[in-house]
Amino acid sequence: MSVEKKKTVVTHSPEETRRLATELLRELKPGAVLALHGDLGAGKTCFVQGLAAALGVQHAVNSPTFVLIHEYPSTPPLYHADLYRIRDADDAFGLGLEEYFKGDGITVIEWAERATEILPPETWHLHFEVGKDLTERIITLETPHPNRNSPS
Ligand SMILES: Nc1ncnc2c1ncn2[C@@H]1O[C@H](COP(=O)(O)OP(=O)(O)OP(=O)(O)O)[C@@H](O)[C@H]1O
Ligand SMILES: [Mg+2]
Repeated sequence: MSVEKKKTVVTHSPEETRRLATELLRELKPGAVLALHGDLGAGKTCFVQGLAAALGVQHAVNSPTFVLIHEYPSTPPLYHADLYRIRDADDAFGLGLEEYFKGDGITVIEWAERATEILPPETWHLHFEVGKDLTERIITLETPHPNRNSPS
């Protein structure tokens, strides 16, 4: 038996959200999958920018709205998907995301709730909420459940 670990962090600026990403990155193993949940403007892309900066990615990181997935050749590679434009998991199956999950990169998915069915059991779930002022964000991190890896 194991207890699901949840941690809530409140950030007060985009910089703090990016720093949180840098700190979390230290806990991630190659092959990690992060599902980012939260409304428009909640700070998901900002968080990915923090991951990218910590990995030494030189390119500007924006939501991959048209291509759906951006690949950054860092070590480990960063795969950034945004599922805002898909309708459901059927669309997601056509994207080949599963191939990224099998690799050694860090895969981070905005609007992951559009395709929860395809996420591996060991996915980290991060929930972003706007707080009581414009620059406050309440970010809840759910670590993967170890027991979900074993068949039920
Ligand atoms: N504490 C904070 N953390 C993150 N972003 C913040 C914070 N305070 C203000 N912001 C601002 O909120 C916006 C967050 O935008 P971002 O593109 O990261 O949202 P998003 O969740 O990716 O939205 P979308 O679903 O449209 O892709 C940015 O303009 C950023 O400057
Ligand atoms: Mg975004």
